[in-house]
Amino acid sequence: MRTQVGIVGAGPAGLVLAHLLHLDGIDSVVLEARSREYVERRVRAGVLEQPTVELLRAAGVADRLDREGLVHHGISLRFDGSDHRIAFDELTGRSIAVYGQQEVVKDLIAARFVAGAPPLFDVSDVAVHDLTTESPRISFRTADGSHGELICDVIAGCDGFHGITRDAIPAGAATVYEHTYPFAWLGILAEAPPSHSELIYTYHERGFALHSMRSPRVTRLYLQVAPDEEIAAWPDERIWAELHLRLHADGFTLTEGAVLEKGITGMRSFVVEPMRYGRLFLAGDAAHIVPPTGAKGMNLAIADVRRLSAALAALLRERRTDLLDSYSDACLRRVWRAEHFSWWMTSMLHRFADADPFQQRLQLSQLRYTASSRPAATSLAENYVGLPWE
Ligand code: FAD
Ligand code: PHB
Repeated sequence: MRTQVGIVGAGPAGLVLAHLLHLDGIDSVVLEARSREYVERRVRAGVLEQPTVELLRAAGVADRLDREGLVHHGISLRFDGSDHRIAFDELTGRSIAVYGQQEVVKDLIAARFVAGAPPLFDVSDVAVHDLTTESPRISFRTADGSHGELICDVIAGCDGFHGITRDAIPAGAATVYEHTYPFAWLGILAEAPPSHSELIYTYHERGFALHSMRSPRVTRLYLQVAPDEEIAAWPDERIWAELHLRLHADGFTLTEGAVLEKGITGMRSFVVEPMRYGRLFLAGDAAHIVPPTGAKGMNLAIADVRRLSAALAALLRERRTDLLDSYSDACLRRVWRAEHFSWWMTSMLHRFADADPFQQRLQLSQLRYTASSRPAATSLAENYVGLPWE
């Protein structure tokens, strides 16, 4: 099989890339290791930056997002037992949309079917070859076990942090920058109306907690837990008891409901430079990871492929390589801004087991300053809602 762009991974990066290329008249094939049901049900991110919403709208895949997404004009920082609102609209004139990542993925998969080029799900043994030639190849096994091969002009590695494309870059051809955090997040999805109209990021002596949502009937909640925590140690009653303690504030009542899903996610920061090797281009979590505190991961993935699709159009329609040559450097500018913002939000809001009282007072001082100074609040707000594309 021949295609112009072979895309490994049907997450937000791979699916948005396939759609943008299709709009540009460029054909691609998306290979996905999991089933369609699995990727459409995988609960992950929930916050879309304004530039992401605008991109999806311009690409014609935001009808349901515009109908069902919840537009939020601010978030609260909760500390010292009360809320301190960061008013995005007032500070930046922009807003965010709360809309589940799996809903974005469903909408994009539907668009691939409409285009007549659905992803190949349930593939295995995916490997990439001949990356430094002009005809790189992807070998794989299809769902029925037969051998497949895709000959491409370019390969896009959109296979997330645990994918195989990044590992195909030879040692010495790329540099990794990495930071791990001494905690993880336990997340639940609960069949309960949100207890507050906006997201609440809570700094508490027992650890960080986050109140988020998916719809007027479904709440998403997170707790900071130990990095090696087992989900079995957290029956629903323990999760609710801990959420009540950490989210306590005057006039706030946390509404409980049936737990629909729960899981634990480790926290790390990770960047590989450059995001390219020959004719292999990495995008999204395959190239970089941020801790979820800044809600940046999915947005960065989409920002990468916005650039990649334009660069691929320049190559495949005009034989121009300049945009592909600057792809990695251009992406990394936004990536490192998000790396810093996510690290900063994480550092400000979590309890570090080894922090002394001096460091805890610094955290509280930073929170109070962020909540009370207009320039400091604006800095948080403009990063959170998404900086304009460069
Ligand atoms: P992925 O979504 O990981 O997609 C990669 C795809 O490749 C997957 O479907 C995978 O099955 C497939 N794949 C892997 N290996 C192979 C292979 N060998 N062959 C074929 N296919 C393969 N981000 C935000 O922006 N906002 C948030 O609010 C937010 N909250 C989060 C909360 C949690 C609990 C977590 C875990 C993440 C959160 N994120 C958030 C991050 C966000 O989910 C990721 O950054 C995003 O999924 C990245 O998209 P991607 O397409 O690069 O990778
Ligand atoms: C979510 O709703 O899943 C969510 C919201 C904000 C974050 C992380 C996750 O920072």
